[in-house]
Amino acid sequence: MTSYKELGLVNTREMFAKAVAGGYAIPAFNFNTLEQMQAIVQAAVETKSPVIMQVSKGARNYANGTILRYMAQGAVEYAKELGCANPQIVLHLDHGDSFELCKDCIDNGFSSVMIDGSALPYEENIALTKKVVEYAHAHDVTVEAELGVLAGVEDEVASEVSHYTKPEEVEDFSKRSGCDSLAISIGTSHGAYKFTPEQCTRDPKTGKLVPPPLAFDILHEIEKRLPGFPIVLHGSSSVPQEEVDTINAHGGKLPDAVGIPEEQLREASKSAVCKINIDSDSRLAMTAAIRKHFDEYPSHFDPRQYLKPARENMKKMYMHKIIDVLGSNDKL
Ligand code: G3H
Ligand code: 13P
Ligand code: ZN
Repeated sequence: MTSYKELGLVNTREMFAKAVAGGYAIPAFNFNTLEQMQAIVQAAVETKSPVIMQVSKGARNYANGTILRYMAQGAVEYAKELGCANPQIVLHLDHGDSFELCKDCIDNGFSSVMIDGSALPYEENIALTKKVVEYAHAHDVTVEAELGVLAGVEDEVASEVSHYTKPEEVEDFSKRSGCDSLAISIGTSHGAYKFTPEQCTRDPKTGKLVPPPLAFDILHEIEKRLPGFPIVLHGSSSVPQEEVDTINAHGGKLPDAVGIPEEQLREASKSAVCKINIDSDSRLAMTAAIRKHFDEYPSHFDPRQYLKPARENMKKMYMHKIIDVLGSNDKL
């Protein structure tokens, strides 16, 4: 058993309470690689932001759970080395799909876990979440649950249509499950293709796709029913057009990729939404920099030559999200 406290990590409790009260959101960045970890820590330290480093089941399979745990401990020490006296870093399991996986993470240094029972019938989602909460709270680990289903693929959880969260269920669900935060479905979705062209309109001036707005009415209704309760948005990458254009200009093929407009995420950050999940934008920033580098320097084959600009591009994106979208800068 390794407690996250031994690793210098924190859970989300105090962080979320401050974010809800302060009208900003904590960035939750997924990571699989050293360069993502370095870029996340550099961005968080330079902007003085708390940060959630999250790991999916797929990331644990790719990079190895033990290595990722020590990378999170390394992140804390690296933040200190960069001059941050009191780093606020959470290691979070993203989209946990079973009690056993959540327990394994809790036993191995995670400070926060998500149990994603959103595809289960309502009562089963409550029962599974409650079981995870009981174990997690005994170890002072916080738990994110999900109610409502996002369109797209959530690890093992697949849904072709989005089922918005029903506001009339949130009080009962949070009370009976005991979860510390709740991921809701209000129109965001995972990946770089959040909407089909048919679901969007086209800007007559630029020809670019304009996605349908998020369901802020549902978010506000949930806030009214659960005052001050921490709300989470998954699937919140913006899919920056310039990164997509760079990828496509250098041999990539991402036609009609579309994300959530940043103005809407900025608005959501000011509400009870206190955790915003971003993964695809990091993938795009990394891929754009690498594709461009390979095109410009065809003789390069040392990974440091192309991973360095990739890391810099991700750091720039993380800093932009923290300062210009979520507002979590200058909070340490
Ligand atoms: O919500 C899913 C995250 O973007 C993680 O994706 O399962 O491919 O690591 P992954
Ligand atoms: P994006 O695919 O929009 O980055 O969402 C990531 C996410 O929700 C991870 O849980
Ligand atoms: Zn997600």
